[in-house]
Amino acid sequence: MRLSHCHNFHDFRKLAKKRLPAPIFNYIDGAADDEITYHQNTASFERCDLVPNVLRGVKDIDMSVTVMGQKLAMPVYCSPTALQRLFHHQGENAVAAAAHKFGTMFGVSSLGTVSLEDIRKKYNNPQAYQFYFHKDRALNKAMMERAKLAGINVMMLTVDSITGGNRERDLRTGFSIPFKLTLGGMLQFAIKPMWGIHYITHERFKLPQLDEHVDMSGGALSIGRYFTEMLDPSMTWDDVAEMVQFWNGQFCLKGIISVEDAKRAADIGCTGIILSNHGGRQLDGSRTPFDQLSEIVDTVGNKIDVIMDSGIQRGTHVLKALSIGAKAVGLGRYYLYPLAAAGQNGVERALHIMKTEIERDMRLMGASCVDDLTRANVRFR
Ligand code: LAC
Repeated sequence: MRLSHCHNFHDFRKLAKKRLPAPIFNYIDGAADDEITYHQNTASFERCDLVPNVLRGVKDIDMSVTVMGQKLAMPVYCSPTALQRLFHHQGENAVAAAAHKFGTMFGVSSLGTVSLEDIRKKYNNPQAYQFYFHKDRALNKAMMERAKLAGINVMMLTVDSITGGNRERDLRTGFSIPFKLTLGGMLQFAIKPMWGIHYITHERFKLPQLDEHVDMSGGALSIGRYFTEMLDPSMTWDDVAEMVQFWNGQFCLKGIISVEDAKRAADIGCTGIILSNHGGRQLDGSRTPFDQLSEIVDTVGNKIDVIMDSGIQRGTHVLKALSIGAKAVGLGRYYLYPLAAAGQNGVERALHIMKTEIERDMRLMGASCVDDLTRANVRFR
């Protein structure tokens, strides 16, 4: 199987599986507990049908959106995700470059493997910073100052990871940073030598957003341990209200599911919220963002930008979310498998396919611009 044989999410996933050592593939591919929410995220779109209009003159299609003050040439963006250089040696650079080419936003994570300043200097498309609230308040302030100086456009505070999700696939393989693999996990690396060759011959692995502040030499830091030991479970709405003031710019909360939280986010001055269950990686059994979308749009949609992520695999999924009132849609695994499979070429191919699908599907829906998509275009079963 080659990149040119990849036509959709499932093909990219297959190619990534072929190329990555199994512990890394399973870190991306896995989710919490029984992975029910992970699967429901995509299934929720299947409970909703599109109702197209015809004969609307759809020669020219404009799929651009403005979200959180950023003009995006397409209604999807690459959500910030952790550890990208572990998946492919080009890591965040590949994702930023591909997003730049398609005129959309990308995010760099607190657990990113390229520094947010370095990447900001290379590309001028909108850049979001995924932020975690650490126990150390001085660290939070220092990280925000740094992001301000770097010229980050959108601050995204993740609020669904107050503790680590139960990723049982990672427990089985021993996935952590640095690696602390089980014997079985090690064997999986031995049978995928190309990954190891790239890993050794490219820039040393690091977490530049955290390296200065966190000593990771004293043992393996699993993602679960980072969440549990470094992040502050006592964080409240008051803490976030302070952060919003301090940032004084585009600020959104990533990981909102309840209507009540959506209202509070608007009350404390957030400019956006991202309905998300972290791709099913945190609370298994959580309701899906798509199922919550209409209620939340109805409640706060006229005050703040409502965005969603989790489970998006197709252009039609994006059109369903936009019809209900999402301002834009975030992609996660959708671009991570192509990144793992083929670096920048992979991400570009995936975004190209998404763009083509959205354009074709908008034509088939009779919509020439995103505003033409409304609730009249969807029915739930
Ligand atoms: C994860 C975190 C790091 O889902 O975002 O693994």
